[in-house]
Amino acid sequence: MSKQLIVLAVLVGGVVAVACGQTPALTFQNNIDPATETSFGTLPPPDYDGGIGGLPCDVATVVRTRCASCHRNPPTGNATMPLTTWAELTAASPSGASYAARSLLRMKDTTSPMPPGAPLPASEIAAFEAWVNGGAKMGTCSADAGVPMVTCTANQSWATANRYLENPEMNPGLACRSCHDGQNFKGQNPSLRSKRSLLFTFAGTIYPGQNQKDFCFSYVPAGTTVEIIDRTGQVQLTLTPLRVSGNFFSDRLTTTPVWLPYTVKVKRNGAVVSEMTTPQMNGDCNVCHTELGEQGAPGRITY
Ligand code: HEC
Ligand code: HEC
Ligand code: HEC
Repeated sequence: MSKQLIVLAVLVGGVVAVACGQTPALTFQNNIDPATETSFGTLPPPDYDGGIGGLPCDVATVVRTRCASCHRNPPTGNATMPLTTWAELTAASPSGASYAARSLLRMKDTTSPMPPGAPLPASEIAAFEAWVNGGAKMGTCSADAGVPMVTCTANQSWATANRYLENPEMNPGLACRSCHDGQNFKGQNPSLRSKRSLLFTFAGTIYPGQNQKDFCFSYVPAGTTVEIIDRTGQVQLTLTPLRVSGNFFSDRLTTTPVWLPYTVKVKRNGAVVSEMTTPQMNGDCNVCHTELGEQGAPGRITY
């Protein structure tokens, strides 16, 4: 059910506070007041969270974790068809073969593999191949079988049509720095806009659960902080996420290569609630902390 909602949020406008002769500190007002706003935007249309769609669990896991980030409904990242349900995979492709058969060929294609540039582990291809060769039969995997399901716990989201509005609560879940730098990470910046005056060294979104949708709001509990810890173990930054969107970001001038690689602790009232122990070089958190997780990340940053 997709509601036609309009962003009503009145923009209070950000303020860049520059103290004379000191490192400028960026402060922006939280622009969304849920007490007065009933609707913020349209949730992305129902996609691969609407049930497993008649697939066996091993196949559902492959397509949801490896293909659905582009082959969702509607597709993103220049893919042109959804491939996450039994009906979608068994439909005939323009070549006459089923999309399932095409998918298998592309998974094994060494020159232009699917997913692009990142061949799948042999075990996953084998599972998919066994299913295709067995006649691509309908399966009965259920939603609670451990297959990642993408949801929006808050059931409220930023409007995708307003992704370029000047607002610090913009685009929760999307890769902040990549877009501000004019890149089109995962098709998130279709108009190729940029905001290079705000190339945050560290920025991302914190959520109540792993597989939260792009643009979904967060409602961060009071007392939640994100600590950026340098390679010597010193806490260099303590960022407070915006309450509604869950977005957090640092001053761009805190680029300090000697901090890197960094680790992270998320705390609530001083107690650790989640942490990243694997040292990272890139502070654009949502490049890895996507809906389903990339580069080994389990999904979102959680509180
Ligand atoms: C799709 C591209 C895109 C993404 C993704 C994006 N931004 Fe932006 N952002 C912009 C653009 C463009 C502007 C400048 C808007 C304008 O000038 O109208 C901007 C402006 C801002 C501003 C200044 C707002 C103000 O009140 O002046 C902040 C703060 C900001 N973004 C934070 C973020 C954070 C945090 C994220 C990640 C959760 C993010 N942005 C993700 C494109 C993006
Ligand atoms: C990062 C985005 C992305 C991911 C992830 C991705 N694809 Fe694609 N896919 C595309 C794009 C873009 C095209 C169209 C260009 C092309 O065919 O190379 C495409 C085309 C296809 C096609 C139709 C073309 C043909 O050869 O018949 C199939 C089938 C396909 N992908 C299967 C898959 C499968 C299966 C997965 C997961 C194992 C996957 N893709 C993951 C972006 C993606
Ligand atoms: C290059 C990929 C990558 C980037 C960028 C990245 N992470 Fe992670 N993150 C991971 C991986 C992999 C894990 C799982 C392993 C671990 O916990 O160390 C993880 C786990 C986490 C966790 C624990 C999981 C959870 O449920 O919350 C937190 C917290 C976290 N990251 C915070 C951050 C923050 C904050 C940033 C940005 C300042 C960030 N990460 C940037 C890859 C990344």
